[in-house]
Amino acid sequence: MFSKFFLAGATVVCFVTASLSNSTSSSSIWVTEVPTYVRPYAIAHYLAGGCVIGAQVYRFPVTGPSSGYAFSLISTNAPGSGSGSLGVLPHIHEVHYENFFNFRGRFQLWTDKYDDENTRVLGPGDYCAVPHNTTHTFQILDPNTEMVGVIQPGGFEDLFYALSSANYSSSTLSPYDPSANNSASSPSASVISSLQSFDVYAQLDYSPRRDAINGTAPANTTWHDGPNALATDAYTPYFVAKDYGPKYLNSASQSFYQVIQPLVTPTQSAGNFSMGTITIAKGSIKSTNSYPGHAAFEVLEGQLMVSMQGEVLSLLQGDVVFIPGNTTYGYWSQVAYTKFLHVGSGAKGLDTTLIAASEEWDSPVWPTS
Ligand SMILES: *[C@@H]1O[C@H](CO)[C@@H](O)[C@H](O)[C@H]1NC(C)=O
Ligand SMILES: *[C@@H]1O[C@H](CO)[C@@H](O)[C@H](O)[C@H]1NC(C)=O
Ligand SMILES: *[C@@H]1O[C@H](CO)[C@@H](O)[C@H](O)[C@H]1NC(C)=O
Ligand SMILES: *[C@@H]1O[C@H](CO)[C@@H](O)[C@H](O)[C@H]1NC(C)=O
Ligand SMILES: *[C@@H]1O[C@H](CO)[C@@H](O)[C@H](O)[C@H]1NC(C)=O
Ligand SMILES: *[C@@H]1O[C@H](CO)[C@@H](O)[C@H](O)[C@H]1NC(C)=O
Ligand SMILES: *[C@@H]1O[C@H](CO)[C@@H](O)[C@H](O)[C@H]1NC(C)=O
Ligand SMILES: *[C@@H]1O[C@H](CO)[C@@H](O)[C@H](O)[C@H]1NC(C)=O
Repeated sequence: MFSKFFLAGATVVCFVTASLSNSTSSSSIWVTEVPTYVRPYAIAHYLAGGCVIGAQVYRFPVTGPSSGYAFSLISTNAPGSGSGSLGVLPHIHEVHYENFFNFRGRFQLWTDKYDDENTRVLGPGDYCAVPHNTTHTFQILDPNTEMVGVIQPGGFEDLFYALSSANYSSSTLSPYDPSANNSASSPSASVISSLQSFDVYAQLDYSPRRDAINGTAPANTTWHDGPNALATDAYTPYFVAKDYGPKYLNSASQSFYQVIQPLVTPTQSAGNFSMGTITIAKGSIKSTNSYPGHAAFEVLEGQLMVSMQGEVLSLLQGDVVFIPGNTTYGYWSQVAYTKFLHVGSGAKGLDTTLIAASEEWDSPVWPTS
């Protein structure tokens, strides 16, 4: 019943999307609610269901059930915490690998493992890996911030529903409720200490360092002023500033360019998943793709076209498409510059396959000819 108004808003958005993509209301792929079983689907930005924790709105475009528990894809929208309070008290996960990506605004993230305590202020496109057993916490800094979380394996949204005061509903599809009390977002110490069945182990003795200068601490770290390498193992947390990580140029089998920027490769995930950004030039991919693991794309810039099951989808910023393993699909851009976040389950996916056929490249853009 919470959905009456929400669905009315959803219909409007679908109509707009449909007119852009030539898909119709009879599209079998565009959905207005995230499926509860594995199937190909696309869902528009802000349409996925979610819940409210303080001033934070959590939405789940990919869930445990929709991905066969491969991974969950989470969006968190919130205003800055005016009081300087943390978005959640410090904690670790023993079996979930968590990835933070900045979609909009700014947030600060802290990681602590092996007595190496780091913090960074993340802007759009910046990334942090939080492997198992890493103490971590975050604080939303800017108004209208949107964090993207990827958590492997899937199903972690159960925690957020358990902590929430209500499911989120907005007839206007507002990213978050601007009238919410933004000093009450983190669950209390006693609540966060009672969540071990959700794989949350509170670390209440941890005190986040407040000595960041130019968005980073400790002082000798490279942040937006030089290259960031990925970790060389599956245990060490790391940060990658937008366009400062490793890059590959693919022009092998197609007549156009793609730049792949891996954020997690099978080395960092022990073969469990991969993620990164793929930026594509205008052009058409003639070949079709199919990979054994489930995958999801979230559009970051431009307009991503995906063909799948006889339909052509047109995805804009924040839209998500979920592609089950062994589904044949094609993708391309009709505009000059399209960039999307790619998440793939397992060790062999679109990103790893492209990288294997690419050259190392030192620019986020492709050659002029
Ligand atoms: C919609 O269909 C028209 C005519 O078939 C085609 O020219 C156009 O490229 C399509 N647009 C999209 C976004 O697929
Ligand atoms: C995380 O810590 C727990 C408890 O010490 C341990 O059982 C588990 O093996 C650790 N996980 C990893 C991936 O190191
Ligand atoms: C909130 O959404 C979840 C997931 O769709 C659902 O299981 C739950 O019943 C909803 N809760 C309420 C109070 O509507
Ligand atoms: C906002 O939340 C804080 C912390 O829980 C509380 O002290 C304060 O009274 C709340 N303010 C309003 C207007 O509800
Ligand atoms: C912070 O950035 C400013 C401006 O780029 C620079 O002059 C200063 O040296 C930086 N401070 C540190 C500690 O890196
Ligand atoms: C930064 O300094 C610490 C302590 O001096 C040192 O352990 C660490 O290796 C340094 N890190 C880098 C990236 O130079
Ligand atoms: C990879 O997945 C296996 C099986 O779920 C799990 O035991 C292991 O801890 C995971 N390792 C990493 C580094 O993600
Ligand atoms: C895709 O097919 C391969 C080979 O048959 C299989 O190993 C894999 O489990 C399949 N993937 C999915 C998600 O079913």
